[in-house]
Formats: sequence, C-alpha cells, structure tokens
Amino acid sequence: MQKYDQGKKARILVVDDEESLREICQDALKDEGYQVLQAEDGVQAQEQMIRHQDIDLIISDLRMPRLGGLELLQYIAEHNLDIDFLVMTGFASIETAVECIKTGAADYLPKPFNISHLLVKVDKVIRNRQSRQERNRLSNIVRMLNVSNALNAQLDLKSICYEFVSQVQRNFQPDSVVLFMMHEDKNSLVKYVVRGRKLRESPKLFTALKAIGTKSLQESRSYLLDRGNAREYLSIDPGEFEYSILITPLYSQQNKVGSVVLLREGDNMFTNEDLQLLGVFAAHAATAMQNARMYGKMRDKNVDIIRSYAKAVEAKDYYTKGHSDRVAVYAMKLGSRLKLGSKELEDLYTAGVLHDIGKIGIPDHILNKPAQLTDDEFRVMQSHPGIARDILAQLWSLNDILPLVYHHHERVDGKGYPENLSNGQIPFLAKVISVVDAFEAMTSDRAYRDALSWEQARDILVRGIGTQWEEELVTEWIKLVQETGLESIQKDVQATPATFKG
Ligand SMILES: [Fe+2]
Repeated sequence: MQKYDQGKKARILVVDDEESLREICQDALKDEGYQVLQAEDGVQAQEQMIRHQDIDLIISDLRMPRLGGLELLQYIAEHNLDIDFLVMTGFASIETAVECIKTGAADYLPKPFNISHLLVKVDKVIRNRQSRQERNRLSNIVRMLNVSNALNAQLDLKSICYEFVSQVQRNFQPDSVVLFMMHEDKNSLVKYVVRGRKLRESPKLFTALKAIGTKSLQESRSYLLDRGNAREYLSIDPGEFEYSILITPLYSQQNKVGSVVLLREGDNMFTNEDLQLLGVFAAHAATAMQNARMYGKMRDKNVDIIRSYAKAVEAKDYYTKGHSDRVAVYAMKLGSRLKLGSKELEDLYTAGVLHDIGKIGIPDHILNKPAQLTDDEFRVMQSHPGIARDILAQLWSLNDILPLVYHHHERVDGKGYPENLSNGQIPFLAKVISVVDAFEAMTSDRAYRDALSWEQARDILVRGIGTQWEEELVTEWIKLVQETGLESIQKDVQATPATFKG
C-alpha cells in the first residue's frame, strides 16, 4: 500500500548513530512505500535537510555524537521548518519525553521497539500531517478568495492598496507592514502605506527594509529573514536583530508594481508557509493594482479627449466659455454638502465638464442666436443630450457618466427632455447637475441677455421647485450660496484639484 497518497510518498529521514538500526528502519519503511534517507547524527541530518527540502518526518535517536536529537529538534523549531519529528531513545524517561514533546516532537518511541510498533506511529504521524496540511490548504484557499474578492470590490489604486494592507494585517498579524510602490517616473520604490510603530521610530530599520524591498523586486524573489540570515541581506547588526521579516515583490505579468514587507518582533516567527501564502496574496494584489493603474490612465486619456470636445464647444459658443468647468465645480460642491461619496463627487465633476458636449453637433447659427429660438430651432437644440450620449457611448470608461449627461435636461414633473422622465426615474446625480447648470446659466451673460443677479436666479430656482427641480437640491444649493457667497464659490473653480479635472 502506498503511503501518503496524494500523488507523493512521504519522505522520511532516519537519524541514528547505529547503522544496523537505520538499515532495519529503512527496509521496513521502504516496504510501506515511504522514501527514506539516512543520517548518522544531527549534523549529517542538517546537511540532508538542506539537500532535500521536502522531508516530511524525521525519526531520530536522542544521544548521538556531534549533535543530539533534542538539539536537532530545537534547530527545526528555530528555523520554523515544517517537518514532523519522532523521537526514539534507549534512555527513556518521562522528563526527556516531555522535553521533546514541548519542543515540537509529534511522538516518542522507547528503545528497543518492535518494528511494527514504529510503523504504526509513523503512519499516525503522517496521517495527522496530511490532514493538517489539507486543513491549512483549505483555510488558505478561503483566505485567498476573501482577499481576491475584497480587492476586486475596489477600483481605484489607493483603495486597493489600503485593502491589501488591511488583509495582510488580518491574515499574518505582523507588528509592522510597509507597502512600497514603484514610482513610474522615478523608476524607484516609494513608501505608500506604513503601519506599525517600529518602522516609524527606526529610520535605520526602515532604510534597510526599503533596500531589501528594492532587491526583492529587482530579483523577483521573496525573502524570509531572521537572526540567522539577517547579516547576509540587511545592513543591521544581527546582534540587535530581534525580528522575523517577510519580503515579497508585487509583480503583474512583467510589470514591477511594488513590494511588501511584514515584520514581527520577538519570538513569533514567520514560516515558509506564510511566505508562500503572502506570495499568492501579492500576486492577486499586484494584478488588481496594475489594472487600476491602467484603468486610471485610460480614463484620464478619455476624459482628456472629451475635455477637448468640451473646449471645442466653448470655442463655438463664446458665451458658454467656462460654463462647463463652473457647473462641474458647483455640482461637486452641492454633492459634498449632500455628503455624497468620493466616487459620486468625481462622477459629478466629470459629468459637469461633459454635460454639454452634445452641443458640438448643433449648428453655430442656432447655438449663438442672439434672440429667442423658434420652435424648430429649439427642437434642434434639444438634440444635444442625444448627441452627447452617442459620443460617450464609445467610451466604456465613461459608462457611469453617460446617464448624468443624457438626462441633465429632464424635469421632475416629467416635462423635460430627451425622455420625459418623471422625478423617480431621473438619476439623482443628473438632478444635481440640472440645478447647478440652470443656476450657472442664469448668473452668466448669454448671447440674448445679461447675467441675472444671484437673488433673481434664486427666485427662479425656488419657483421651479416640484416642477423643474427637486426641492431638497434647490434648498441646499441656495443655502450653500448664501453661506459661502457666489464669488468665493467661483474662485474655487480655478483652484479645483487636478485629480478631479481628469
Ligand atoms: Fe445642456
């Protein structure tokens, strides 16, 4: 019967200074289907462990020349090696057994023993190991799915980075974390998120970690550092070194995205399994981060193109110069007063900039007519939301903006255009645009009239409550202008952050 049946036979290392005993054990274990290695003492066992990274179980004597069984067991514990340990000794005593079990041995076998007794113990240890690994695998899959779902729920780079760091904190319980991101212009790492007191208090440690983070990204390699190998990789006196550190690069396809460093203080060391799991987390995060960067770039590019359309409209229609930018800022300000989220505020800004791009398709003589439009001309003018929809429909990244632009001339009484939607059917943000669009138009000079005073515009808005506009929006906008002053709001049009300007 093949043991450890998951496509791989368990590999067992038998450590004893008595060759005949090693041979007996080897033969019996091989008959059971195990792969068997031998070592005559602890030192040779360490060499075997370096040569063979996939040892599942060590069956070891306690008293041996050079390095004994207990020291070998301590070595395994200190290095967080995932190897089970079975002790056999002729000097059986309860104290030794307790000491071995406390250090991490799975079981204890007094010499002399019957070989079938050994096989029963080995079988039990290997089965426990197998189900433990299966449990870990399952819980790791659940953890990975959670991370993946959490990251996929975010669209912008900043949210993804913060979500990733909080997932890392939840799953690995580090005392400190730092996420470095590749700065595309500088071609070097910059710190993006830092958590934990230690890294803030120790610039020397932080600098050393940034250097290993850079190395990790350049070489596309993860590191697990502790006192044993810190000197090799960190410019820190290992005498002072009391940490366990994981470093993993963030790669998406061939793109260097960044690197993440986790640090634990004291005896709670990271394991190789942690390193592997962090690698999977990092791969998910790197893909999400890279997608967000690409999405942002494409979006920016699209908005740039559309903004140039908006500018082209303004070039055609002298009197609307600056109208779109002002509507954008007014809409965002009203949105903030209504406590909308950052995504909605950004949508309001973009929709504000773009709301009249459809006018690019309206003939100049109608657009700039210095008198009231005839019914026919008005119908042509009313086609501008439809033209805007056709333009925006080409740009998938502006899907969320499209309905706001298309419906910005609807009225709450259902008498607006282009779809005669009634109050409940009009997108809320389109209603916000509608209020500030009308207000901005009224308080600016037009081809056919001078600007109204803000009080006149206010009165017209109030009269349109319930027919043209929603009451809450008009009321809040009027309060905002009263409290802030129109001039001060207009000044902010110039000062709007570039991030909101696409
Ligand atoms: Fe319009």
